[in-house]
Amino acid sequence: MVDTSDEWIITRTGIRERRICSPDWATSDLALLAAERAIKDAGIEAGDLDLILVATVTPDMVFPSTACLLQARLGAQKAAAFDISAGCTGFIYALAVADRFLMGGDYRYILVVGAETLSRITDYTDRNTCVLFGDGAGAVVVGRGSGPNGILSTYLAADGSGESLLYLPAGGSRMPASHQTVDEHLHYIQMQGNEVFRFAVNAIPECVRQVLEPAGVSIYEVDHFVFHQANIRILQTAVKRMKIPWEKTIVNIERYGNISAASIPLALAEAVDEGIIHPGQLLVMVGFGAGLTMGSALVRWGR
Ligand code: UT7
Repeated sequence: MVDTSDEWIITRTGIRERRICSPDWATSDLALLAAERAIKDAGIEAGDLDLILVATVTPDMVFPSTACLLQARLGAQKAAAFDISAGCTGFIYALAVADRFLMGGDYRYILVVGAETLSRITDYTDRNTCVLFGDGAGAVVVGRGSGPNGILSTYLAADGSGESLLYLPAGGSRMPASHQTVDEHLHYIQMQGNEVFRFAVNAIPECVRQVLEPAGVSIYEVDHFVFHQANIRILQTAVKRMKIPWEKTIVNIERYGNISAASIPLALAEAVDEGIIHPGQLLVMVGFGAGLTMGSALVRWGR
C-alpha cells in the first residue's frame, strides 16, 4: 500500500501486529465488550453504575456521546454518561475525573472505558501514520472504598499550543465535511511524529515525578509502569532516563500498535489477566498525546 518495510516498522516502532475491527463495528461495540468484562470482574451489575466515562477520539458519531450509546446497550439506567476527549491521555483524564466524582461522595461505582477505532481515521496512503494505529478497548470499574487500595494521586496537564502536531483537521465546526475535505484527506490523522516523540520522552518522566511526589512514594517503590503504548523507543528512552528496570514496564505495543485512549486499560487488563500485576502492588500509569495532553495516575491495585 505504501513504501515501507516490516523491518522499518519493527525497528522504529516495535509494532508487529495491529487489530482492525470489521466495517460494521464501531467504537461503542468494542467499548461494550470491554465494559461487560470489567463489570463482571468487579462483581457488580450494570444497574449499579452511577457514571459511565468513555475516553475516545473516535466516537461513533459527533453526538450523542459514545458513553450514552454504551449506557443504553449495558442497560445502566441510573448512570450518567459522557465522553472525554484528551487524545491518547484520555483514559488517564477519565480516571482522574472518576476519582474526583468518587471523592464527592454521591457516586459509588464508575465505569471508565478507553475505546478506539483508529482504523477509521487512518490514511492508508500516508506511510508516516498508517503503520502505527489500531483498534481496541479496555475498561475498569472504580468504586468508593475505605481500604488501602485505589487511586492514590493523579496528575493532568495540557499544552494546547501543540494542537497542530497531532490532529484531525476536518469534520468539526472549523472545517465542516465537504467534497474538498474528503478529496484532500483531511478526515484523517495528521501527525508530526518526531515532534510528538520529543514531547513524549520528556512527558513520561515529568508525569511520573508529578504523581509520586504528592503521595510521598519513591520511584523505586513502584512495582509496574503502564505507559501509553505509542512507540517502543519512546518507552526505552524514558525508562533509561528515569533509571528504572525495564522489567517493570508493561509492554504490549508489539501486538496492538498505538490504540490511543485504549492502550493503557488494555495493557493493564492483560497484565492483570497474566498474573503480572497483583493486588497490593503499586502502579504508575502515564498517558501522553494529542492536545497536547499528558497525565498520570498512581494506583495501589486491588479492590
Ligand atoms: O499516541 C500519541 C502520541 N504519538 C506518538 O507518540 C508518536 C511519536 N512518534 C513516533 O513514534 C515516531 O516519530 C514515528 C514512528 C512516527 C516516526 O519515527 P521517526 O524515527 O521519528 O521517523 P521520522 O518521522 O523522523 O522519519 C525518518 C524517515 C523519513 O525519511 P527521510 O525524510 O529521512 O528520508 C520518513 O519519511 O523515515 C521515513 N518514514 C518511513 N520509512 C519507511 C516514515 N514512516 C515510514 C515508514 N516506512 N512507515
